[in-house]
Amino acid sequence: MKILAIETSCDDTAISIIDAKGDINKPKFKILAQNISSQIDIHQKWGGVVPSLAKREHGKNLIPLLIKSLQEAKLYKPQKGNLEINFDSKKIDKILEREENLKEDFYQTIKKIKTPKIDFIAVTEGPGLEPALWVGINLARALSYLWNIPIITVNHLEGHILSAVANNDNNKISFPLIALIASGGHTELVLSNNWLKYKIIGRTRDDAVGEAFDKVARILGLPYPGGPEISKLADYLKTSKSSADDLEIKLPRPMINSNDFDFSFSGLKTAVLYLVRRLETEGKINKLVKAKIANEFQQASIDVLISKTFKAVSKYKTKTLVVGGGVIANLELRKQLQEKADNWPEKLNLLIPEKFLSTDNATMIAVVAYFHSFKKKNIKTKKITAQGNLSLK
Ligand code: KG4
Ligand code: ZN
Repeated sequence: MKILAIETSCDDTAISIIDAKGDINKPKFKILAQNISSQIDIHQKWGGVVPSLAKREHGKNLIPLLIKSLQEAKLYKPQKGNLEINFDSKKIDKILEREENLKEDFYQTIKKIKTPKIDFIAVTEGPGLEPALWVGINLARALSYLWNIPIITVNHLEGHILSAVANNDNNKISFPLIALIASGGHTELVLSNNWLKYKIIGRTRDDAVGEAFDKVARILGLPYPGGPEISKLADYLKTSKSSADDLEIKLPRPMINSNDFDFSFSGLKTAVLYLVRRLETEGKINKLVKAKIANEFQQASIDVLISKTFKAVSKYKTKTLVVGGGVIANLELRKQLQEKADNWPEKLNLLIPEKFLSTDNATMIAVVAYFHSFKKKNIKTKKITAQGNLSLK
């Protein structure tokens, strides 16, 4: 089964095509194409993602990414001569009425290629920025109409949960499982007792952990997105020769001992803000001190994430732990998660997505759609709407 997936929930425009086969308990995935167009340069000036700009950029990026992906997957076949696919352009006009950039590209390119051999079109319906989500959804609708291919709608968070499964060595899932989602918009602990069924057992009460990385980076004068920058700066400590500095940096681990599975990262970010302000007035801020702060902030976040996650593993006696989301790209977090799992007293299968599958991508959306195709879940024939606040069920 070939699945084309479209993901536009935030500031990455992403298209993937996968070949999926096998039973729901033993799936096999082959990534035929994974393309992402990052909008970092555009949003960087504003220190965060601007929804209207994200929408505009998705409109510009989608068709070129689609063509590139079809070519890589060897599914791109131009119509012979000047022939064009016949279709009711009024219908497409209606579907793409709010997608000016996309519509032009769509008419220029798509009707000149043959219908590709694709079984499903998967698209993210939420959560995320609604103007951004709509662009992907409307492209999916237009392609579905033109090519007569059914759409499967996907929850972005379910994508992060199942992203590790896209890697074939990594697809042995047993239930119950605990999933940790750590991204720019979400920090959630999820319990699952069966395929595609979720119960949120804990979540952040304020900022998401990725959001805290982004905000702390800003406080330290680093560009957006902050996650990779913080970890790079923390690494500077390892290489720095300077040892003349005995300044000890200590930050809190919010809610680490609370009797639930919730998180809080806003206080940690504020602690960094006050610390930096104080050190600035004392004239003690330099690159080494900033690196110490970055390192301590990173470790405080890791300590809280790992502590709560393994508390959940222990309470629900799960044999599988899956993690996903942009923050899981953090090498130190990956290392410490693995160490903790290796030393866990019970047998525990930890599934970590490869780095390129941790941050936003469309492969994870295609993978979820494959699972849904077994259950005939979310196969849409009627209206699809962007759902900014969609949660897991
Ligand atoms: O999953 P994602 O790509 O988008 C959302 O769904 O939010 O996550 C993006 C978040 C950003 O906050 C970014 O700073 C963070 O993931 N991130 C990292 C790293 N790479 C990305 N955080 C910590 N360490 C990293 N290496
Ligand atoms: Zn995400």
